[in-house]
Amino acid sequence: MNNCINPSKFTFYFFTLSNLHIHSKLPDVGTTIFTVMSSLASELNAINLGQGFPDFPMNEDLISLVNEAMKKGFNQYVPMQGYMPLRECIAEKISFLYNTTIDPAEQITITPGGTYAIYTALTTVLQPGDEVIIFEPAYDSYIPNVVINKAKPVLINLKFPEYKIDWEEVRKKITPKTRMIMLNSPHNPTGTVLREEDIQQLRSVVANTDILILSDEVYEHLIFDNLQHQSIIRFPDLLQRSFVCFSFGKIYHCTGWKLGYCISSPIFTKEFRKVHQFNCFSCNSPTQVGLSKFLQHKTAYLALGKFMQEKRDYFQQLMSATKFNALPSYGSYFQVYDYSRISDESDTEFTLRITKDFGVASIPVSVFYKSGKDDKVVRFCFAKKNETLEKAVERLIKI
Ligand SMILES: Cc1ncc(COP(=O)(O)O)c(C=O)c1O
Repeated sequence: MNNCINPSKFTFYFFTLSNLHIHSKLPDVGTTIFTVMSSLASELNAINLGQGFPDFPMNEDLISLVNEAMKKGFNQYVPMQGYMPLRECIAEKISFLYNTTIDPAEQITITPGGTYAIYTALTTVLQPGDEVIIFEPAYDSYIPNVVINKAKPVLINLKFPEYKIDWEEVRKKITPKTRMIMLNSPHNPTGTVLREEDIQQLRSVVANTDILILSDEVYEHLIFDNLQHQSIIRFPDLLQRSFVCFSFGKIYHCTGWKLGYCISSPIFTKEFRKVHQFNCFSCNSPTQVGLSKFLQHKTAYLALGKFMQEKRDYFQQLMSATKFNALPSYGSYFQVYDYSRISDESDTEFTLRITKDFGVASIPVSVFYKSGKDDKVVRFCFAKKNETLEKAVERLIKI
């Protein structure tokens, strides 16, 4: 036998391969704008205020705690539900912040990030044909997560320019097939937050129905102007029908860690873990151990809102020298700006042009709508070093 490939076998192998194909479960999905804008920004050496990640260093103490955990040997699997001391600290924080008792054994599951928690919750619940109410503009994973589960996204626009929920429209869109309502506060991309009256409306909409709630609270502490975060966890009657999803990466400025958690009722958590245990099974151990120590410092999480508010205020103050008009941001990493005084291009054309010609990347808000609704607004991420914000605005002033 020599090592040469038998040509007839090779042809057969090739022929078979070319006949292999898969039916895309997400035929409408391509590369996301975040990847497009980030690669364009790095190709052109532009300042990236597009994608939502901080460029300043994360907390040194947290790094040391994770390092210490690795050195002490916390490098093997932790339980599928998550490292118990971390779950206990989360329960304690919730009791302190929201005055709600959560059982760390039966209601908290540590996940590899907020996006995974959301996907797992939807996969746990949805059956083909179920309807899920999604408010747009919406974080880009929601619709594909619903579609991949053969359920139907029912889209409702937040009322522009305040980006408020139109509860009358929600009532009109409820059908016997409505299985879930997805909420996100503080909100990406707009920085709006749910108010007490939204919670009252939500209560009345779901009363006497079997509608569930998915509450994406990955920007939990990043809320400004002394507003209170209307976490679903504050409301036990709503919590019993909810999956509430969080992200350590977002709040502790380490988005690359991809660690988060989901809180739900014991019954729902049991089902959630059935999906989770055969997907990820167990999340990164040393980060869980480090966070379990770090979470005991209340001052660290209580300071996060003020820290990010200062970023928003500084960026807004710098931007007042440009022709952009700020729409209010009350939380998250983001603020939306209207550019209608500058151009009547579509928001996608506009963001591509300012990235190329002025060296600042942003995200067109139309990409957060399935229909591509274009209100001539773009999203900037202000979770950046002051010097990055200054350099970016020096360029934006020239437009
Ligand atoms: C609204 C929203 N939900 C979830 C996530 C994802 O969080 P994680 O990085 O922990 O998966 C993001 C990240 O951009 C987000 O903006």
